[in-house]
Amino acid sequence: MNQGSDATDSSPSENTIEWHADDMPYSTAFGDHYYSRADGRAECAHVFVNGNDLLQRWAKQQRFTIGELGFGTGLNFVETWRQWQASKINTVETDKGQLHFVSFERFPLKASDMARALVAWPALSTLSDQLVSAWPDQPTGVVRIAFDDNVSLEVHIGDALPCMQAWSGMADAWFLDGFSPARNSQMWSLELMSEIYQHTKAGGSFATYSAAGWVRRNLQAAGFIVEKRPGHTGKRDMSIGTRAL
Ligand SMILES: C[S@@+](CC[C@H](N)C(=O)[O-])C[C@H]1O[C@@H](n2cnc3c(N)ncnc32)[C@H](O)[C@@H]1O
Repeated sequence: MNQGSDATDSSPSENTIEWHADDMPYSTAFGDHYYSRADGRAECAHVFVNGNDLLQRWAKQQRFTIGELGFGTGLNFVETWRQWQASKINTVETDKGQLHFVSFERFPLKASDMARALVAWPALSTLSDQLVSAWPDQPTGVVRIAFDDNVSLEVHIGDALPCMQAWSGMADAWFLDGFSPARNSQMWSLELMSEIYQHTKAGGSFATYSAAGWVRRNLQAAGFIVEKRPGHTGKRDMSIGTRAL
């Protein structure tokens, strides 16, 4: 069964958030939290950074583009940025490389909501503060922010499928983070997974916390070689995959 390709009409046309335990954003429209209630930052490190083998790949590749479905609070971006910086600390090369992070977000949060969520991780505060102060009041079109010579962000505001179809870039690695497939099938449709595949460089990868059978089948049908890996806290499996060289 391929789910998600006809889910457009059932997807919400607007989103509102509630706060659980003070700093945990929850989408009332999708009925889901933005990240693991156990620890969103640890989930990002396990699922997305390690799932895409980023530390090993960054050691060999100086210019790297990450694509993401669902920018949300920016937590994945900020944690990835921190890990990228940390990975460069001991490098003797004068060229510190370039990390370009591209995300697709239909319901952008306000900077004040990002700040409220990200305060839960004091170790990220130097970077979170930079994101929050650069984030526009009314994000539209494509938000582009260059944080320094080495790290840049590009967030496409709108429904992921048409935005992706209009995007001409290619990613080395994807973070598939569009809420639970059971609650937002549109973000896991075969059509969108095929676009993701078309926007993945040869040898590139994706990672996601989902191990749902129909999601894995959509990713396989799109062209990825899909594998299971142990999931983050409380989840037996997650999925990763590659586009063959
Ligand atoms: C699980 S949250 C992402 C969490 C985020 N990566 C973070 O670090 O906070 C899923 C995101 O997908 C967005 N979203 C849901 N449906 C979408 C769609 N059709 N197109 C683009 N974004 C969508 C939601 O607004 C939400 O921000």
